[in-house]
Parts: sequence; structure tokens; C-alpha cells
Amino acid sequence: MKVSVSFLNSKNIPKDLELLNQTDADYIHVDIMDGKFVKNKTMPFREMRHIGDFTSKRLDVHLMVENPSKYIPLYAELNTEYLTFHVEVEEDILKDLQMIKDYSIRCGLSIKPDTKVSTLLPYLPYLDMILVMSVEPGEGGQEFLVETEEKIQEIRALLDSYHLDTIISVDGGITEETAKMCQDADLLVSGSYILKDSNFQEKISSLR
Ligand code: DX5
Ligand code: ZN
Repeated sequence: MKVSVSFLNSKNIPKDLELLNQTDADYIHVDIMDGKFVKNKTMPFREMRHIGDFTSKRLDVHLMVENPSKYIPLYAELNTEYLTFHVEVEEDILKDLQMIKDYSIRCGLSIKPDTKVSTLLPYLPYLDMILVMSVEPGEGGQEFLVETEEKIQEIRALLDSYHLDTIISVDGGITEETAKMCQDADLLVSGSYILKDSNFQEKISSLR
């Protein structure tokens, strides 16, 4: 299992990113919130761009924003491997996915807990990642929604039936316990569970 670490709840981002550099974390998960798609707001790009000064890990960017097309060109400039936005946005989704691909970056769509898997169908052939939200997007430190286990299995069956190698990532409330409900995923995003401990590596290893 791959692990992507979210620093949304970090009290000292430079320090935590530097410590995470010494672990085998696969990615740094970058949560971006615009105060519209979700009520919270993260720091602006002019500040967020400096994360590259503290980490050499590749980034897995999660846009929780109303207008992904405004953010894609910015985050494409960083050391980004995956750029993901939400299937619930009102923009032209295929156009935004193509915009990401034009930067030679892998693209993903994220799905909120109450959104049906069938919403993803029109976009399946274009996706490198499906980011399944296991909490309501908007804040770190929430509890994993157990119904996510079935949703992951449904998506896995769908991808298999079309012989697609799209990866499944799960985001929100991931701990050693809840990771067991995500066996069909490829990547787990975890924030508070890892950062609240002093031994980041031990926590990361417990999720694999
Ligand atoms: C929630 C974010 C998640 C979250 C993960 O809206 O997208 O990435 O911060 O953090 P934990 O592991 O604390 O749920
Ligand atoms: Zn996230």
C-alpha cells in the first residue's frame, strides 16, 4: 500500500515536511480549499508554492475548489505527480482533466461521501486516480465513514470490469484500524494520525 501524507493539520509545516523527507512516504498530499467549495480556506498559492523548499517528495494535490481551471496552471508548476479535483464541480470536467494532462501530470477526480459512483462513469477512461473521500471534505481530524469500504469495492469492481489501471486513493480519517477497511485501495492519504505522533515512520509503516 502506498501512503500520501497530508499536512493540513500541521502546526509547523516546514518542520513536519523536513521530518517527512526522512521517511519512506510516497507523496505529500496538498489540500487546497477556496472557502467556497468547502467552507475553510487554505493559504494562497504565493505561500503554498514554498512547500517545495522543504520537501523533495512528489506532490499529490487535492483541489477542494469551485473553479479547478484557475488552480491547475498554478499547481502544475510545482513538483506535482497527481492533480485531483472534485467530480461535483460545475466546470467542464473533461476540459479540466485535459488541462492537467497537457502539463504531463497525472489527473484524478475526487468523490464526496454522498456522491454516487455512477457520477464517475463518463470520465473513467481518462482518470489516473480516483480519490474517494472517507470524510466530508473541508477539515482534517474527522472520523472515517465506514460505508467507504463498500464504495471502494464498488469502484474496484468497476475499474476491473473495464480493465483500467486507474489507482484508488482514500482520504480522511485513515488510521491503522481504518486502513484495514481500505484493502482494495492503492494509496492511503493520512494526516492527523501520522502527524500527531513523534515517530512519523512508524505510523506510515503501520498503514502499508
Ligand atoms: C479533508 C482533507 C484530507 C484530510 C486528511 O478535507 O482532504 O486530506 O486533511 O487528514 P486526516 O487524516 O486528519 O483526516
Ligand atoms: Zn485531501
